[in-house]
Amino acid sequence: MPVLSGASGGEIAQGLAPLIGMEHLVLESRRFPDGEAYVRVPLESIDSVRSENVVLVSNTYPDSGILQTILLLGAIRDVRMGDLSNLKGEGDIDVGNVGPGIFLAIPYFGYARQDKRFSAGESVSARVLAEIVSRFCDGMVILDLHAPEVLQGMDVPIKYVSSMPEIAESLHRNVNPDFILSPDKGAISRASEVANLIGCEFSYLEKTRIDAHTIEHTPKDLDVSGKIVSIVDDMISTGGTICRASDALRRQGAKEVHAACTHGLFTGGALSRLANHVDGVYTTDSLPNPRASVSAAPAIARGLKELIS
Ligand code: R5P
Repeated sequence: MPVLSGASGGEIAQGLAPLIGMEHLVLESRRFPDGEAYVRVPLESIDSVRSENVVLVSNTYPDSGILQTILLLGAIRDVRMGDLSNLKGEGDIDVGNVGPGIFLAIPYFGYARQDKRFSAGESVSARVLAEIVSRFCDGMVILDLHAPEVLQGMDVPIKYVSSMPEIAESLHRNVNPDFILSPDKGAISRASEVANLIGCEFSYLEKTRIDAHTIEHTPKDLDVSGKIVSIVDDMISTGGTICRASDALRRQGAKEVHAACTHGLFTGGALSRLANHVDGVYTTDSLPNPRASVSAAPAIARGLKELIS
């Protein structure tokens, strides 16, 4: 099964291919002078793309990634359908439809946090996005999706996978924490999985988000005095959640505080802010960032094996 990538996902696709015993093919992607995207399945890859099931690794983030993903899926679909007619007369255009078999692996699913209509008239953006990309593929693997419930009942099968086993392994090796903290109720299942895998203590905080840049935690006694603590979340954006949780841990005597997550967005100076609050930051490479030290490929490989079998 060829593992394909375009402008995003190249590194993960490269790591993924050997895990599922397949080749990595890079599709052509560039920009027209006006900024619009151009994608193409290169002539030399057409036979591979038609030969068996294919996986496209592509992020739906930032917004340009959404369009890139849709255009790549459209190009792959046409190639597999045998629709190769073109003005330059390139390629063997007398080929048939090879049928379904396009799988989309999304390391970071953008808009995941707009998973509810918080206010009347809003778009449930996560659902809308999934509805669009699912029209072009036969199944999806999504890594550490913020709240999978939003995608219930989609028309194609979806496997939700998690990098928490790899994050646990990395924290155990690099930090050896005594205590894992979930910075809000939403991260409890992920953070407690890490605590169980490492075999250390666990607790959580209750968080209220005042606005995109301001959060508050309900005060709680945590048994962290003199301990090494890792805060585990699905993503870090502004860093506000981690910084406030770290403040609470330091006030209660934590010796070291580290942060770990799957998706390192690090918006608006988050890394500098975090540097003043935590001793280390660990993320997967679902999004390229300077703290990406854990590969997302093994989790995606697990999901693909299940989805395709
Ligand atoms: C929200 O519930 C997520 O799990 C994260 O806690 C949140 O998105 C982190 O955002 P920030 O880094 O801006 O606090």
